[in-house]
Amino acid sequence: MDIQDKVAIVTGAARGIGRATAVALAAAGARAVVLADQRQAQSEQTAELVRAEGAEAVAVETDVVEVNSLQRLIEETESRFGALHVLHNNAGIGEGADVWPDVPIDRVGAIVDVNLRAVILGTRLALAPMQRCGGGAIVNTASGAAFAPLPQQAVYAATKAGVVHFTRSCVPLAESHGVRVSCVCPGLVTTDMVRETGVGGPGEWLQPVIDSVEMLAPEDIAASVLALVRDPKSAGCVVSIENEPRKPS
Ligand SMILES: NC(=O)c1ccc[n+]([C@@H]2O[C@H](COP(=O)([O-])OP(=O)(O)OC[C@H]3O[C@@H](n4cnc5c(N)ncnc54)[C@H](O)[C@@H]3O)[C@@H](O)[C@H]2O)c1
Repeated sequence: MDIQDKVAIVTGAARGIGRATAVALAAAGARAVVLADQRQAQSEQTAELVRAEGAEAVAVETDVVEVNSLQRLIEETESRFGALHVLHNNAGIGEGADVWPDVPIDRVGAIVDVNLRAVILGTRLALAPMQRCGGGAIVNTASGAAFAPLPQQAVYAATKAGVVHFTRSCVPLAESHGVRVSCVCPGLVTTDMVRETGVGGPGEWLQPVIDSVEMLAPEDIAASVLALVRDPKSAGCVVSIENEPRKPS
């Protein structure tokens, strides 16, 4: 799909990977990018960056865990811009300061709801509007954690494996609805999520991993998301963006 003149929604767009994708979509010629996040003030900042690239931007305060909130987001996008071509299901949370299994029960539910349930619901709700405008592309943000055991973040890893499997199970939607569903699986990316893992910063278990690799930039992931949006054969694609080993300084 040519991104020129298309209408996109990015969830988790207030910062990190979502912000980078929103800006990259605008730079690639998208007509409008709708920024969905709970952090409205930071989403407004992303909106400024998107406008600076020449696209229309609106920040719609959204809690992806709430079906009504997701429904409003999609309805508002279609009514305001007349179409929905691209959805980046990207909002995500991890165990945060805690290490599995010492994760508060509420947090367990929230991780599953944000990382997996919202991806499924977002996809479900985007199908009809995408069909109405001739088809679309959905790119989910999974993680390298989908493929290897991550004992310290077992809930997070399980949800990301679920996103990969869901993505693969959505291949027939390309034929039935004209909607290609794919996902990116980033390694470690320099974002606030990593900074907020562990008590007071990347904990004992994560810091040695960070020290052993070249960290990815959010823009690296955004580039892969855009490549999937453009690729007419992206349905079911699961793209890993891996960290290179740290080069000796
Ligand atoms: N940073 C990494 O190393 C890394 C690696 C692999 C995958 N990922 C995934 O990339 C995605 C983006 O993460 P990031 O690193 O940019 O983190 P981030 O914390 O900087 O951004 C995540 C965004 O999601 C938003 N969000 C969380 N819960 C929400 C909710 N209920 N409703 C609406 N918005 C909500 C947050 O407000 C935040 O702006 C996540 O799905 C994450 O799991 C990150």
